[in-house]
Amino acid sequence: MPMKKLVIFTGAGISAESGIKTFRDSDGLWENYKIEDVATIDAWHKNMSLVQEFYNQRRKTVLAAKPNKAHYALVELESKFKTTIITQNIDDLHERAGSKNVIHLHGQITKSCSSINKNEIFPIKGWELKMGELAPDGSQLRPFIVWFGEDVPLMDKAIIETYLADIFVVIGTSLQVYPAANLLYKLNKNCKIYAIDPHLEEGILPEGSTLIKKKATVGVDVLIEKLLK
Ligand code: APR
Repeated sequence: MPMKKLVIFTGAGISAESGIKTFRDSDGLWENYKIEDVATIDAWHKNMSLVQEFYNQRRKTVLAAKPNKAHYALVELESKFKTTIITQNIDDLHERAGSKNVIHLHGQITKSCSSINKNEIFPIKGWELKMGELAPDGSQLRPFIVWFGEDVPLMDKAIIETYLADIFVVIGTSLQVYPAANLLYKLNKNCKIYAIDPHLEEGILPEGSTLIKKKATVGVDVLIEKLLK
């Protein structure tokens, strides 16, 4: 019996219990910055060092955080299902928990890229990316993040994975941000859908979905029981 294909779509909620604040729980402010001042391409052109500093602070938080039980539970599922994780998170907690196949739709805070060619990507050692650190093409190195107003290069890959899923699990995302949230409409009609989220409203999920209204570290146990039943 071939292994079923499991696609897990995660957002900030799965890292909340690792101490990384979600976006909407901090009512649109990250560490007292307005999103348009730090997370848009215009913000970068207007004030590079402010944006750089904002992501340096968030990178420090990410490096100090640890994967939680929910991240590790998904690794366990990799032995039972052909598993792909599609995450909106820019932290590396899925990888640090041991997940092998992770698609980061919104980039990765542990990496930098050229400011003129986002395909020139580099690892960041430690928490700080400094102004004056240049890419080989001479441009200022920037966080390898998909800012509001930029396109989402891995979206097509994510859509194909989603369409092929036998089981699709949504964990810790308010499904408010597009195009990422469009994945919910790219499922094949036989796909079984689950969601784990303490606040998500049933109505936002397709008919027939199973909503586990718990926080991730508790909800993953319920999910595993249902998937392995
Ligand atoms: N366990 C599970 N889910 C949780 C938990 C938890 N402990 N705590 C909060 N949540 C849920 C919230 O109920 C909410 O539905 O996680 C979701 C977090 O939603 P958002 O803060 O909107 O985060 P996300 O959906 O990932 O945001 C999408 O928007 O902020 C931008 O680009 C950024 O990737 C991000 C995108």
